[in-house]
Amino acid sequence: MLVLTALSALLAVVPVYATTGIIVPLYQFPSTSATWAPLETAMSTFPSMQFYIIINPFSGPGDADSQPDPAYQSSIQTLRTHSNALLVGYVATGDGTRASADVLQDIETYAGWDASYGMDGIFFDQTQTGFDAEYTSYSDAVRNTAWPGRATGYVIMNPGDDIGNSDYYSLADQIVTFEDTFAKFQQESPIPLPHPAQQSVIIHTFTGPGVSDQTLSSVVQTIKSAGFASTYITDRNISVEDVYADFGTDFTQFVADVAA
Ligand SMILES: *[C@@H]1O[C@H](CO)[C@@H](O)[C@H](O)[C@H]1NC(C)=O
Repeated sequence: MLVLTALSALLAVVPVYATTGIIVPLYQFPSTSATWAPLETAMSTFPSMQFYIIINPFSGPGDADSQPDPAYQSSIQTLRTHSNALLVGYVATGDGTRASADVLQDIETYAGWDASYGMDGIFFDQTQTGFDAEYTSYSDAVRNTAWPGRATGYVIMNPGDDIGNSDYYSLADQIVTFEDTFAKFQQESPIPLPHPAQQSVIIHTFTGPGVSDQTLSSVVQTIKSAGFASTYITDRNISVEDVYADFGTDFTQFVADVAA
């Protein structure tokens, strides 16, 4: 009894800290085993940090009921050897305008990938910001499907913007509530935090005059203190390049800052 009392007293005073993980829009064809190596290195260096990795062969999985290209198969198998990798398949939703049958087919196609290079769930891109009940059926489809190594499929939605205290929070594990340039991030800060432990922030074009390594460390610290579930920051510039087609030159420092 004494032990139980002491334990409950302890539990009452020890706060549970949410830990910010890293979300990676890995929109790169793995042409060689070196393509995804920076990510592999990051996962090996920080084994207790959770990585949420978005796999995206063709703005989706490719043809209905297809298996991914052999290069994807072997590279994903390698990612899966890391216990801190959670893999989600990219599904476009066109701000709610894409045909529901096509969205559901993409989910089914990812779910049909062999378990050795299988997904843990789905990333719904271009989620309509206003609540749209269609997304309930999308979330249900992921939850009711068998995924390798998980009892329940993981759901991430990406409206890329503030959605207030939306019902989407009851449908998804994580919601990206900011995806834009660093300039926009500064304008919109602080990002509203209705459910920080379910929110993610993605900042690209993290570059320009006055943006230094210290700026990156300081922004990462702000995101971690706010308790976001995950974040991704890259110095790739959206005016001149596809920001997710490669890692930023600041990737290694970004990862170290999140781990710090
Ligand atoms: C992005 O690239 C464009 C074109 O080179 C440049 O004008 C702009 O300043 C860059 N943005 C930042 C934030 O550095």
